[in-house]
Amino acid sequence: MINKSITFIAGLTAKQYINKSMIFIAAGLFVLLGFGVNSFCQEDLVKLHDSSYVMHQRSPVPFMHNIHNEKAGISECNVCHHVYKNGKLLENESSEDKKCSQCHFINNNKIELTRAYHLMCKGCHLEKSKGPILCGECHKDK
Ligand code: HEC
Ligand code: HEC
Ligand code: HEC
Ligand code: HEC
Repeated sequence: MINKSITFIAGLTAKQYINKSMIFIAAGLFVLLGFGVNSFCQEDLVKLHDSSYVMHQRSPVPFMHNIHNEKAGISECNVCHHVYKNGKLLENESSEDKKCSQCHFINNNKIELTRAYHLMCKGCHLEKSKGPILCGECHKDK
C-alpha cells in the first residue's frame, strides 16, 4: 500500500522506476556493445597538435576522429593505426594504443612525423578526391 504511493521525481512508482531503469541499462549496454568498442575512448579527440613538436609553425589541425572516419567510410582502424614488422604491413594488427610520434619521430627517422601525417592524410584525400589537400584547409589559422 505505502509502496504504491511513493512517487519518484518523474512521477513513477518504485516498481515502474526499476522497470524503466532496467530498460535504460539494457539500452546502455546495447549502445556500449554496438558502438562503444569502436568509439568509446577517443570521443574527445578533435584536433591534432602533437606535443613532441618543440615549436609549432602551424595551427592545430581539426580532426573529429569518429565523425571523420564515419563520414569517410573507414571501418578498419589499422588503415591509420598500422603495425609493420620487418618492413611488412601486418594486416590483422593495429596500434591505436600508440601515438604516431612514438614511431615517427620528429627527426632521424625514415618517415618523420610531419611527413607521416602529410603522406597519410593528404595521400588518402588525393586518392579519394575528397577531403582537404591545401595547407590552409587543414591548418586553419595560418
Ligand atoms: C590533410 C591535412 C593537412 C594538409 C592539407 C597539410 N597539413 Fe600540415 N600537418 C597536418 C597534420 C595532421 C600535422 C600534425 C600536426 C600536429 O600534430 O601538430 C601537420 C604538421 C605540419 C607541420 C609541422 C607542425 C608545425 O605546426 O610546425 C608543418 C610545418 C605543416 N604541417 C605545414 C604544412 C604546409 C606548408 C602545408 C601545405 C603545403 C600543409 N601542412 C598541409 C595536416 C595537414
Ligand atoms: C583516418 C585515420 C584514422 C582511423 C581510420 C582511426 N584513427 Fe584513431 N587516431 C587517428 C589519429 C591521427 C590519432 C591521433 C594520434 C596521435 O595523437 O599520435 C588517433 C587517435 C586515436 C586514439 C587515442 C585517442 C586520444 O584521445 O589520444 C584512439 C584510442 C584511437 N585513435 C582509436 C581508434 C580506433 C579504435 C579506430 C577504429 C575504429 C581508429 N582509431 C581509427 C587516426 C585514425
Ligand atoms: C608502432 C609504430 C607505428 C605507429 C604507431 C605508426 N606508424 Fe606509420 N609506419 C611505421 C613503420 C614501421 C612504417 C614503415 C616505413 C618505415 O620503415 O618507416 C610506417 C609507415 C608509414 C607511412 C608510409 C606508408 C603508408 O602507410 O602510407 C605513413 C604515411 C605513416 N606510417 C603514417 C603514420 C601515421 C599518421 C600514424 C599515426 C596515425 C602512424 N603512421 C603510426 C610505424 C608506425
Ligand atoms: C583512408 C582515407 C583517409 C585518411 C587516411 C584521412 N582522411 Fe580525411 N577524409 C577522407 C574522406 C573520404 C573525406 C571526405 C568525407 C566526406 O565525404 O565528407 C575526408 C575529409 C576530411 C576533412 C573534412 C572534414 C571532415 O571531418 O569530414 C578533414 C578536416 C580531414 N579529412 C582531415 C584528415 C586528417 C587530418 C587526416 C590525417 C590524420 C585524414 N583526414 C586522414 C579520407 C581520409
